[in-house]
Amino acid sequence: MDITSFQRDLLHWYEENKRDLPWRKTQDPYRVWVSEVMLQQTKVDTVIPYYHRFLESFPTLKELAEAREEEVMKAWEGLGYYSRARHLHQAVKEVVENYGGEVPHEKKAFSSLKGVGPYTAGAVLSIAFEQPEPAIDGNVMRVFSRLLLITEDITKAKTRKIFEEVIPPFLEEVLPSEMNQALMELGAIVCFPTSPHCLLCPVERYCMAREEGVQEELPVKAKK
Ligand code: ADE
Repeated sequence: MDITSFQRDLLHWYEENKRDLPWRKTQDPYRVWVSEVMLQQTKVDTVIPYYHRFLESFPTLKELAEAREEEVMKAWEGLGYYSRARHLHQAVKEVVENYGGEVPHEKKAFSSLKGVGPYTAGAVLSIAFEQPEPAIDGNVMRVFSRLLLITEDITKAKTRKIFEEVIPPFLEEVLPSEMNQALMELGAIVCFPTSPHCLLCPVERYCMAREEGVQEELPVKAKK
């Protein structure tokens, strides 16, 4: 695959077609972090009003760190998966205590914070700090399973390693913030789980699954 052409085609499409989402107006690491935690188990449309309200209540990392747990939980009420909020609150307190209130740029340091898993670390470090880290969520695994005909079961923990190896070349020589969000966007609005919109896809010509006609069979997920 000609990665440079792929990047050009996908980024061009992204600039023309990306949704106007509130967290795309900032590279403030705290705001990016809040958005990525909210987006992990919740749909974009649901997150938007919570994102605005949460940041009105806690405009800065320091204000969130200083808030009482009950206030934080109140702002999260209705979003569900409440451990996300408790962990985020704990993590920003750690940032104030151990990193002078500045979100650490170092992957190891950031990943050691409460609730920060590989996806959150990749998303925040790439979007806020332009580090070439993959942000591997379900959408991105679906896109790359199809693009590169990866037939391993994505519910298996070790399959993640395959994505960690194949994605970084796609983040070279471009803005990682743009490329990661373009990949997420492709998964969200074109490369659907069922009936993907291949005719509207800006990178159809690179897609190995499309070439084989197996796009609907990927990604492979073990039956529950
Ligand atoms: N889902 C997870 N992160 C996202 C982002 N930054 N933009 C849109 N959808 C997302």
